[in-house]
Formats: sequence, structure tokens, C-alpha cells
Amino acid sequence: MKEIKKQRILTGDRPTGKLHIGHYFGSLQNRVKLQDEYETFILVADLQALTDNFSNPEKVAQNIYETTLDNLAAGLNPEKCTFVVQSMVPELAELTMFYSNLVTVSRLQRNPTIKTEIGQKKELFGSEGESVTYGFLGYPISQAADITAFEAEAVPVGEDQLPLIEQTKEIVRKFNSLFKEVLIEPEAVISEHKRIKGLDGNAKMGKSLGNSIYLSDNEETIRLKIKGAITDTNKIHKNDPANPEICMVGYYHKLFNKDNLETVYSECRKGERGCVSCKKELADNIILYLKPIQERRKYYEERPELVKKILIEGTKKARLITKNTVKKVKEAMKINYFDE
Ligand code: TRP
Ligand code: SF4
Repeated sequence: MKEIKKQRILTGDRPTGKLHIGHYFGSLQNRVKLQDEYETFILVADLQALTDNFSNPEKVAQNIYETTLDNLAAGLNPEKCTFVVQSMVPELAELTMFYSNLVTVSRLQRNPTIKTEIGQKKELFGSEGESVTYGFLGYPISQAADITAFEAEAVPVGEDQLPLIEQTKEIVRKFNSLFKEVLIEPEAVISEHKRIKGLDGNAKMGKSLGNSIYLSDNEETIRLKIKGAITDTNKIHKNDPANPEICMVGYYHKLFNKDNLETVYSECRKGERGCVSCKKELADNIILYLKPIQERRKYYEERPELVKKILIEGTKKARLITKNTVKKVKEAMKINYFDE
């Protein structure tokens, strides 16, 4: 029987902190499912993290390990997928250099993801000129280099990344029409769960927002965080009826207590449920849910040499592919000067 070649996917994270349940429902869970169907590459995107943290490279360096641990903990199997450290693949920087000639500065400034991020920087630092570097503005080009270097057909990402995939497609089309059909145009694969709200009711759970439940949080931390979650503020006494739809505890029950959801909601509405016990029930469920994830994390935490090996070998394997892509790109551009 002829073996059907699996399609390839590339996805990744910026190593800037530990991953939280928002990452889990937004992407990790989806990756775990996809690893059986696709040839999977997971990029630890340290170069991209540096575009925002250049004065703090230690933070990025430390989080390479944490991000990898979180992915392994979530259930990504190193036998099935390949982990790659971005800065250890020089071909990605080479391709970025070539592609930067295919994208105008104004197109980058119009990229909705970049536009939002520049807006946030403005709020933080006052003026755009002082905070937006050339490297930061260009990170969509570097992401296009990542995706095309691996010849990824599909890119599983959250919704906020769609403009980056669109930018990649444009670069591919431009390159291919200028030179030769050598680059593969990728498709985004959006996971069903979109964005998970934060403990404070913020629309986004964010590493920097202080409103997250981390995959590696211990029992005590989880209980404390749930105790502090925003509930229906109209409910004062234990037996007041309330609206679970405007309560963050009610919201997380939807994710972690599916089997008992109807009871939770109807008891809350009828005033038959106290917030204290409701929060306890939720915390119990989250702890139970995260247990296998944390057990896997512990396994790898106790074996740092294994994690290192996974990253080194994965990166080595990756370079066989990325070197070949650069070769094809140079041939297409006829700048392969000294090739035999
Ligand atoms: N931009 C992604 C993030 O912020 C990380 C990333 C870098 C990535 N290169 C990629 C994702 C290539 C998918 C494909 O998390
Ligand atoms: Fe929220 Fe539960 Fe209190 Fe209802 S009973 S308001 S769902 S914490």
C-alpha cells in the first residue's frame, strides 16, 4: 500500500511566560488533536519574542524551556511532533531578509494585528516613534519566513493571528509570481474555542494582564484565584437569585464542569446556590482537569536533559527542511552564485 504523505503544519508561541488555560483552549488542545493527522512542527519563537523584549533577553531565554514544558504538558508528544528553537535556524533570518523587499512599510502599518499592537504601545509609552522598532514592525515578515521555510500547508492559530497568515499569503503570491512557483501558500486553521475571558471579566486572558490561570498553577493558587473571580455583583446574600451569564465563575463552569452545568445555572438563577460553594466546586473541577497536564509537566521538569534533547534534535531536523527551502528560493531568484 502506498503511504499517503501527511500534510505539514507549523505553529508556535512566543516564549515570554508560562502558558495559561486561554492558550490551552485557544490552541494547545487543538494542536494535540492535530498531531495525529499532520506532520507537526512547534516553533518556540524566541526571535519574535525579542522584537518586544530586546532589552530583556534573559526573560526570553528562560521561557524557551517553560513554553516547551507547557506544550509537552498539554499532550504534545515528542515522538509525533518536532520542537524547534527559532533563533537556532539561521535560514529563517535569511528568508526574512529576502521577503522584507516584498512588503511595504505602509502595508505593515495597516496590518490589523500590528495596528492593534502599535495602539497598545502608544497607550503605554505615549508616542509611537519611541516604541515601534524596525524589528517589531517587521515581525509579520519573519513569521512568513517561518511558515514558508517549513513549507507548512496549514497553520493552526487563534483568530488574532489571521492577519499574519494573510500577510504570509501575500508574500508567497508575490514571490511566486516574480520568480517561480516555489513557495507554498498556507491556510490558517482556527480552533473552535476562540478567546477565553480573564478572571477579571476582561475579554482576553493575557500573560501580562494578571488575570490568568496558568497550566502550572498549584491547587492553592487556583483556589485563591477563583475566590477572587468577578461574580454577579448584585448577589449579596447566599440565597439571592443571580445571573450566571454575567459571572466569571459561571463562565468557567461552562469549560470545566460541562456535565453539571444545567444544575449550576438553574440553582444560581433560583437562589439555591451560594457563591462560596459554587467557587469551590469550580476550583475542584479545574484542579481535576489540570491534573494529567501537571503530571506530564512534572515528568519533563524532572528530566531537563530530555527536554534539551527534544529541542536540539528537533531543531536539527528542522534545518534539513529550511536549508532546502533557502536553496530553492535562491535558485528561483538566480542568486545561487556558486552552486555546482
Ligand atoms: N505569532 C505567534 C504568537 O504570537 C508565534 C509564531 C511565530 C507563529 N511564528 C509562527 C505561529 C509561525 C504560527 C506560525 O504566538
Ligand atoms: Fe456566580 Fe455561582 Fe455565585 Fe451564581 S452562584 S453568581 S454562578 S459564583
